[in-house]
Amino acid sequence: MTNWREVDAIAKEWIKEAGERIKQSFSKELLIETKSNKNDLVTEIDKATEDFLIKNINQTFPNHRILGEEGLSEAVEDLKGVVWIIDPIDGTMNFVHMQRDFAISIGIYEDGVGKIGLIYDVVADELYHVIKGNGVYMNDIPLAPLKETSVEKGIIGLNSTWVTENKRIDPTILAPLARDARGTRSFGSACLELAYIASGRMDAYITLRLSPWDYAAGKIMIEELGGMVTSLRNEKLNMLTQNSFFASKPGLHQEILEKYLNNGKW
Ligand code: IPD
Ligand code: CA
Ligand code: CA
Repeated sequence: MTNWREVDAIAKEWIKEAGERIKQSFSKELLIETKSNKNDLVTEIDKATEDFLIKNINQTFPNHRILGEEGLSEAVEDLKGVVWIIDPIDGTMNFVHMQRDFAISIGIYEDGVGKIGLIYDVVADELYHVIKGNGVYMNDIPLAPLKETSVEKGIIGLNSTWVTENKRIDPTILAPLARDARGTRSFGSACLELAYIASGRMDAYITLRLSPWDYAAGKIMIEELGGMVTSLRNEKLNMLTQNSFFASKPGLHQEILEKYLNNGKW
């Protein structure tokens, strides 16, 4: 049987050390490449961070498998056993342009069930972490269960991409939500936006395209605190493919689905 407290303790050490290494790179010139499109960036630091984590996991837990964004470990085609789902730098554009507002995200799943989530905001030195069933913490501060809220009082994480012409959704569907909400935000790091829902700084996060490594850790945190995480059609997420994505505090999830998303049948 897996000793999750032991896994958690060592994963915390690794994520902190990985963060230190990233900070040390700030003074160096970055090698920036593009991936799927001109705005999809990767640097040698993303790859070095994933490599650092993979080497440690392989050495300490040889039976565990790894699904990492940069694809430096063996391909993972199912979620049997223990799988670490890693985004070495979430918010690479922020990392490159601003040297802040990016994070390392690690979600650890057993047979598809989230057990441990870690999101480390390197520059703010804020480590969000959860062991399923044991609460969510920001550094050593326990986070409160999520309270119900409404669109009128809500701050919604929503990128302007989805309310202007785009390939995935008619912009007139989400524009009324942007209009009715108290405010919208876009921080450029999906995992941090999820950590912000967990810590109460934001109320929901909506996007049409997210990969498992972007949300693997945050999903465990939000669900642990009583929030909802589904696709934008209110379906369970597939942890092996890209999904549309909708995370929210209770109450608000239902309100947005009913009033703006035609109960998922948009
Ligand atoms: C991206 C960020 C961004 C989100 C994109 C992700 P990356 O991850 O989380 O906020 O809008 O969909 O791909 O490429 O910086 O790891
Ligand atoms: Ca990412
Ligand atoms: Ca990334």
